[in-house]
Amino acid sequence: MNLFDVYPLNNITITKALGSYVWDENGVQYLDMYGGHAVISIGHTHPHWVRRIEEQLEKIAFYSNSVIIPLQKELADKLGKLSGKEDYQLFLCNSGAEANENALKLASFHNGRKKIVSFDKAFHGRTSLAVAATDNKNIVAPVNETGNVVFLPFNDEKAIQEYFNDNGKEICAVIIEGIQGVGGIRVANESFLKLIRNLCDEHGAVYIADSVQCGYGRTGKFFSHDYAGVNADIYTMAKGMGNGFPVGGILIAPHIKPKHGMLGTTFGGNHLACAAALAVLEVMEDEKLVEMAKQRGMYIINKLKTIEGLENVRGKGLMIGFDVPPELKDLRKKLLENYNVFTGEAKPNVIRLLPSLALSGKQVDEFFESLNEAIEQIKEPRLEKI
Ligand SMILES: Cc1ncc(COP(=O)(O)O)c(C=O)c1O
Repeated sequence: MNLFDVYPLNNITITKALGSYVWDENGVQYLDMYGGHAVISIGHTHPHWVRRIEEQLEKIAFYSNSVIIPLQKELADKLGKLSGKEDYQLFLCNSGAEANENALKLASFHNGRKKIVSFDKAFHGRTSLAVAATDNKNIVAPVNETGNVVFLPFNDEKAIQEYFNDNGKEICAVIIEGIQGVGGIRVANESFLKLIRNLCDEHGAVYIADSVQCGYGRTGKFFSHDYAGVNADIYTMAKGMGNGFPVGGILIAPHIKPKHGMLGTTFGGNHLACAAALAVLEVMEDEKLVEMAKQRGMYIINKLKTIEGLENVRGKGLMIGFDVPPELKDLRKKLLENYNVFTGEAKPNVIRLLPSLALSGKQVDEFFESLNEAIEQIKEPRLEKI
């Protein structure tokens, strides 16, 4: 049987990983500045994470949500403590799209409305409502098309103010990434997020902070929306939450009340996923990874700004992007093929850096050495590395 061919693949087979390095089947080492698409938070195969999952596996991996699973409450308590949202409620699921799907649905149950405000270049996942709120026509199937989602220009305060003035009573929710990931590392202005908070309060709409990529400490605060000093009504999470173990969730503000049957999932919150997620939070706390992400990120951003040719360096913590001019268009490819460095991209010309929050200073130096050499090599092909 063939695999359904939907992914453009690099011709590389990864067989081993540790921290911010991965190795291919021939033993070639790569530096992972991509974090497996922003998923690796505490580092690949962190020993504590491996041990906790193994120990849990010996006891029980799964039982359905029809029984009490104390690990879920343990996870909720730890998450409340680390995120500072102790009075919020946790609903567990399996992926980022599922988290957003549940958030949007919950918002609609809560206020009985239908209109969703999203933004240009937003990415919220591939399930029905999440993809409808995603600004990419190529991945929206005819069946997902709905008149319930409106796209406004990102960071345009006048446009959202006017939209609320005209449609306030109908707006169910505003969904926004604190820093757009797939959209190319576009940082939401703090004043824009504050305005969204005020408009939602004024008009009874739900503020959904899609923190699937920009959450979980990656930006140097637990949620990137925290930089604006606002509390969202719902935070959606996945990626870094399990460090590669599939787990997602939503944090729900206390004024949104649950009702039996309102949301549900078979696998969400299973024993093994909770053990993985707890291990991640324990390591984040022990190794002070949120602060680490902030410091390393600041250093990387400042240093990138000094490199001639790279444009519009931006981001927060370890969620960083820069534009590559046409003369350096092969930079990402060169980094991978000649220097064994994985990075992320965003169309048309953005390189995204989304490494583990535990990236070391030595690895940062290695990255810059490779980056500088790759740029030199593109400018001066005679310097081709052998
Ligand atoms: C901001 C954001 N939301 C949602 C998703 C969807 O997450 P998943 O692929 O786990 O469904 C992604 C994935 O890249 C994302 O970046």
